[in-house]
Amino acid sequence: MSNPGGVILDIEKIAIIANKAKIPLIVDNTMASPYLIQPFEWGADIITHSLTKFVGGHGNSMGGIVIESGKFDWFLSGKYPSMTKPTKSYHGLIFAETFGDFGYSMKLRADSLRDLGSTLSPTNAFYFINGLETLHLRMERHCENALKVAKFLEQHKKVLWVSYAGLKNSKYHTLAKKYMSKGVGPVFTFGLKGGDEAGKKIINQVKIFSHVANVGDTRSLILHPASTTHNQLSDNQKIAAGAGPEVIRLSIGIEHHKDLIADLKYALASI
Ligand SMILES: Cc1ncc(COP(=O)(O)O)c(C=O)c1O
Repeated sequence: MSNPGGVILDIEKIAIIANKAKIPLIVDNTMASPYLIQPFEWGADIITHSLTKFVGGHGNSMGGIVIESGKFDWFLSGKYPSMTKPTKSYHGLIFAETFGDFGYSMKLRADSLRDLGSTLSPTNAFYFINGLETLHLRMERHCENALKVAKFLEQHKKVLWVSYAGLKNSKYHTLAKKYMSKGVGPVFTFGLKGGDEAGKKIINQVKIFSHVANVGDTRSLILHPASTTHNQLSDNQKIAAGAGPEVIRLSIGIEHHKDLIADLKYALASI
């Protein structure tokens, strides 16, 4: 699932194409979290997550994770010499041969981690493990809340459109039903009448939503990409990036949905 457009990838079909081409399918599953989608079940070979989002869940730590299925045959195509040929700096060790189904993980540890130093701090690791224990509870509430907020926005007269795969009129609704039977997550965009000015205004009016560029926090977050994260782009580039002047991105938290809806209702009334 993409951030933030609500696009759901047809993983199973892409996996068939990747498999034929003998290339590993790598899925960034950050937005769904392992609770909502398990891409290995649909043929992915490698999964990545920004733990900074749902896994941690509290916006208090930064980290990432790479998980391999162990099923990808690195030798088949001859396209991956760094996995299948001797590595000079490790006395001729061949990652895919020596470590078999965890060869890629070992390569990341021995090469990338060593060279780039991207080691998780013990404190952040502690926060992530704590966060993981409540992932299933948080995701259930996130999804429940998001659907209620999306339905509220969908019928509001100052809202042009809502892009949320949980809504029946979304073009990704069918894929959502196939891949995400437990819910489609809490991050989505909507279009506001009144463009840039209205976008900035709503950000300043909300009281419960925080104006933060992260996603996946327990707290609800709101962003007007055109005047913040995508501000440096030209108007045409903003539109092409899905960050036109009317676009607002929400990451719905685990507060009470009535408070969130009341907050948005109040902010929308100011436009
Ligand atoms: C889908 C997705 N993957 C990965 C990342 C990278 O996350 P981090 O900031 O933890 O490196 C982001 C950040 O927004 C994201 O949205």
